[in-house]
Amino acid sequence: MAGRIVVTGRVPEPALELLREAGDLDAHMQETTLPVDELHAAIAGADAVVTLLNDRVDDAFLDAAGPQLRIVANVAVGYNNIDVAACAARGVLVTNTPGVLTDATADIAMALILMVTRRLGEGERVIRSGTGWRWHMHYMLGTSLQGKKLGIVGLGQIGTATARRARAFGMEVIYSGRRRAEEELEAELGATFFGFDDLLGTSDVVSLHCPLTPETHHLITPARLAQMRNDAYLINTTRGPVVDEGALAEALRDGVIKGAGLDVFEHEPDVHPALLELENVVLIPHLGSATIETRTAMAVLAARNAAAVLSGSEPLTPVVL
Ligand code: DGY
Repeated sequence: MAGRIVVTGRVPEPALELLREAGDLDAHMQETTLPVDELHAAIAGADAVVTLLNDRVDDAFLDAAGPQLRIVANVAVGYNNIDVAACAARGVLVTNTPGVLTDATADIAMALILMVTRRLGEGERVIRSGTGWRWHMHYMLGTSLQGKKLGIVGLGQIGTATARRARAFGMEVIYSGRRRAEEELEAELGATFFGFDDLLGTSDVVSLHCPLTPETHHLITPARLAQMRNDAYLINTTRGPVVDEGALAEALRDGVIKGAGLDVFEHEPDVHPALLELENVVLIPHLGSATIETRTAMAVLAARNAAAVLSGSEPLTPVVL
């Protein structure tokens, strides 16, 4: 019972190969997100759609696809672009790509921690600008990580992998979340469970790893930034809207916190203009999963999910409401 498969943007060839075997493939090969009207035209009559993280899957999308649609396979672990309840109401399965991007994203979180605490972006800008510099005892001093507390918000797979890396750099791990981790994991990480407010007030570095949901939208408000220590750093590798970006820019400018490292932004690809003026923030363009190996693994997992459902099997990594 194969069917028509639409891929909404260019994905690595190994995923396309799988999809060609699984059904009648219509792969859109542009790198950027399709405009909504083109997206809706493209998915008409699809049995499976492989979506990218900027494709909005809502009632209008589902109407455009038609009642035969069986699966939306998102090539991302985050699925805030998908109205999962609307899909469920029409019997459309949703899948994401957990696991395969854990290490790549944790690497980026750790890289941002190192970049902002050791002022690497600032240093590189000095060299590239041709401004004169000389080594001296007090030149561009940063903050050591050894013995400092990393506060992980959301000890899921990526939060855990980031904690493991931070431990290797001599950091102590505390964490908050909806529930406590297994004792074994706490013991392995030497991690202590904190309430969110206490974590904010205690951590030297706060790293966000919770998914974007209505509850976590603007989790980091001006009040929450004020709860952080003024020598602390904020790292965001999850989704931009978890942080009130304007408030963060003000907090960084006014010394409410010491620095930030951001891989994601509230209105991607735009970045709040005030952030661009600041030296104490590291800004990178949503590179969390951006390695050849990881992007290939993500696309292949999404393709395997679509193929499984089209062949009448269970998807490998369903999103459960
Ligand atoms: C994801 O998978 O949600 C990541 O943000 C992609 O980089």
